[in-house]
Amino acid sequence: MKVKNALKVTVVCSQLLLAASAFAAETKSADIFYYNLTDSFIANLDRILTQKGSEQGVDFKKYNALDDAFAQSETIDIALADKENKPLLINLVDSTYANELLTSLPKDSDRQIIFFNRDISDSALASYDNAWFVGASPRESGRYQADILVSYLKAHPDYDKNKNGVLDLVMLKGEETHLDAVLRTQEVLKVLNEQGIKYKVVFSANANWQFQKGFDFMDQAVSSLTFNNIEAVVCNNDAMAMGAITDLNQYGYNLDDANKYIPVLGIDAIPEARQAVKEGRMLGTVCNDATKLSEVLVTMVKLGSKDPAEISKAIGLPVENKRISIPYHQICNAQ
Ligand code: GAL
Repeated sequence: MKVKNALKVTVVCSQLLLAASAFAAETKSADIFYYNLTDSFIANLDRILTQKGSEQGVDFKKYNALDDAFAQSETIDIALADKENKPLLINLVDSTYANELLTSLPKDSDRQIIFFNRDISDSALASYDNAWFVGASPRESGRYQADILVSYLKAHPDYDKNKNGVLDLVMLKGEETHLDAVLRTQEVLKVLNEQGIKYKVVFSANANWQFQKGFDFMDQAVSSLTFNNIEAVVCNNDAMAMGAITDLNQYGYNLDDANKYIPVLGIDAIPEARQAVKEGRMLGTVCNDATKLSEVLVTMVKLGSKDPAEISKAIGLPVENKRISIPYHQICNAQ
């Protein structure tokens, strides 16, 4: 009996060992370089990516550059010098650094390098065989955002509070040269033109994706223009929109009084913004799909393939010129 039990234990143990070693073989490691983890969208992405990684057996070692391009390039150089040849997932502080980084790689290098969120040039991407970009189309998000605004304006023909014949618009933009800021802004204004909605940008500032700057600029706009002369607030992302809404809330706006409401729009659909949309404090946001982005990154690391067709099949999205675009989704409330 005892011998039988001992045998059973040995069999179970060896099965466990086999399973563990199969899992170990499945487990992969990758280094991930964030431009700035104090950025709300990036912090949310990190949370989801870490979770997806642990579900799928991808272990991430993370680096946070805190928006310091020099510090980030130093850390990436150190990672490139290691012998493990781990895949690198890179969210660049300075997109132009991609070129230097990729051309400095040894000729025989086949390390997988995936840039994400902050776009790099086509020429940089083409300069190295195993380089990829995973992002999203800024124009698409601008268009979705504008669609939400246009539906609101059509449902509320009395939006022109000061009766000056135009929509008086506050624009809070991201970093000055970031394509997401430039193209989202352009696209919103283009859609308003297409829809025949006359507008005037009465206040515009680069709030650099930040809540606090969104709050401060909104406060400046309110004190210089007064509430009656602000008819919509379009923000290139949710963190700035939440800053603007928090500022409006302190004057009793965008809370319970229907007469004290200014439509505010963001992009990203971070949890705080989803909540604000649900509560009616924010008109709408656009989902910058951090879940799909995380799934794509984890799948690409696990697959380790350089074949665009194989990658495309695994992630369920097209791969065009080494670029993968994650579709946006519209999220708005019923207002
Ligand atoms: C955008 C996002 C912004 C900010 C930026 C950083 O896609 O909407 O909130 O995170 O990326 O590059």
